[in-house]
Amino acid sequence: MNKLFTMSTMPGDGTTSLVSGEARCPGPSVQEIVGADANPPPSILTTQSYEFLGDSDIPVARYTDPEFFSREMEHIWCKTWQWACREEHIPEAGDNYVYEVGPYSIIVVRQRDETIKAFVNSCLHRGTKLRPTEGEGHSNDLRCPYHGWTWNLDGSLKKVPCAWDFPHVVPEKFHLPEVAIGLWGGFVFINLDTDPMPLQDYLGVLPEHFRDWGMADRYVELHMAKELPCNWKTAQEAFLESYHVIETHPQLMTGVGDANVQYDCYGDHVSRFYAVGGVNSPHLEKPLSEQDLVNMMLVGDRSVLDELTVRPGETARLVMARFLRRTLADKYLADLSRFSDSEIIDTIEYHLFPNMILFPGLSLPMVYRFRPIGLDPNRTLFEILFLRPVPDCKKRPEPAPAVYVKENESYSIVPGMDVAFAMVYDQDTNNLRSQQQGFLNALHSGRKVAQTLGNYQEVRIRHFNATVDKYVKDEKIEP
Ligand code: FES
Ligand SMILES: [Fe+2]
Repeated sequence: MNKLFTMSTMPGDGTTSLVSGEARCPGPSVQEIVGADANPPPSILTTQSYEFLGDSDIPVARYTDPEFFSREMEHIWCKTWQWACREEHIPEAGDNYVYEVGPYSIIVVRQRDETIKAFVNSCLHRGTKLRPTEGEGHSNDLRCPYHGWTWNLDGSLKKVPCAWDFPHVVPEKFHLPEVAIGLWGGFVFINLDTDPMPLQDYLGVLPEHFRDWGMADRYVELHMAKELPCNWKTAQEAFLESYHVIETHPQLMTGVGDANVQYDCYGDHVSRFYAVGGVNSPHLEKPLSEQDLVNMMLVGDRSVLDELTVRPGETARLVMARFLRRTLADKYLADLSRFSDSEIIDTIEYHLFPNMILFPGLSLPMVYRFRPIGLDPNRTLFEILFLRPVPDCKKRPEPAPAVYVKENESYSIVPGMDVAFAMVYDQDTNNLRSQQQGFLNALHSGRKVAQTLGNYQEVRIRHFNATVDKYVKDEKIEP
């Protein structure tokens, strides 16, 4: 491969006295903090999986170059499992969902027998998209808007207007091309590869880790989408580390352990970060008291002051977890008593290659998706969904429709979006525009044309790029 794009696999010169990758932020670790919780976390959260992956720089041309981008299109976006929609987006026969990535468009269709199929969203007459736009739809068959060729929901050819003119169109040869689908956790995945690795293998540790987190029993409470002026990897990498909190989100330091986040990598497709809440940032010179930590994180009305009081022997984490366990249970009519304090209040974030981020925690229940737009390496569609528990004994609420936020608009315009949370996403997305422009600037000025990463806090970015390389070079992939 062109040297311009290549990450070296050689470790650096190890200029620190410690073995590279062994240094950690001074202060308590995630495991020490959650180990002291009144309701400790499940075993899946008490393990660590970090390995030093080298400290070579990452060339910025990988984020800007059309040649590298087209290799990603061919080797990643045509070969990997990608979350296309939630099952709840297509509950009835004839419901469909168009998923688009780069130049590709796939239509996912609920069948009459309740199974799901997916097809390339292009007419076999003269290529027109059967459904022109992304998102949800419904029809009893799949009919092209140009000349009306029509397919049954299972992809078999149903009707060709003026069939007398097409004696060469044999129905058996004009079945819509099928795309592989897989189901996990209420998500519908597609894979454009004609012989893909089974989804269950591809997911690696995810099914085991998420076994008790019930992602299938959640519904889409909020769905936001925004076009970002950056590469799909640039966008995603902003959410793989917590190192930027001190500079980008200083308001979070009174309540989140940012520098002592735990980072884990599993196989080629999965990584995790685990950040504790209800604690002081190790960066804070004047740590807040336990009561002040509660006050910073949860500003309640006077009726809950008593509930939010930290009593002797209690911690901010205990009080916050107890309060949120009750209020979330009331709000979502769900029994949350089985969840540990950590699952209630902490930020637990998994990344699934190439473009999905999932948060199984209950107070921050997001899912992200990052997709290249068309054939431009400098544009990405970033979506944020909030997945809440389906209320016990209640019908599943309808999934919230996607709200599109313009590039220069704040996420706070989205109805139902918390203003403080919107500010965090605004801070992140502002960085991304500057970073992508900075990449182009670096390339044109020809000085330092690579990113330098931290050995621990940015290991997920290195892990992610190593998997990008494996796909682009057609190397063996480990589930
Ligand atoms: S292009 Fe689809 S019917 Fe003609
Ligand atoms: Fe951020």
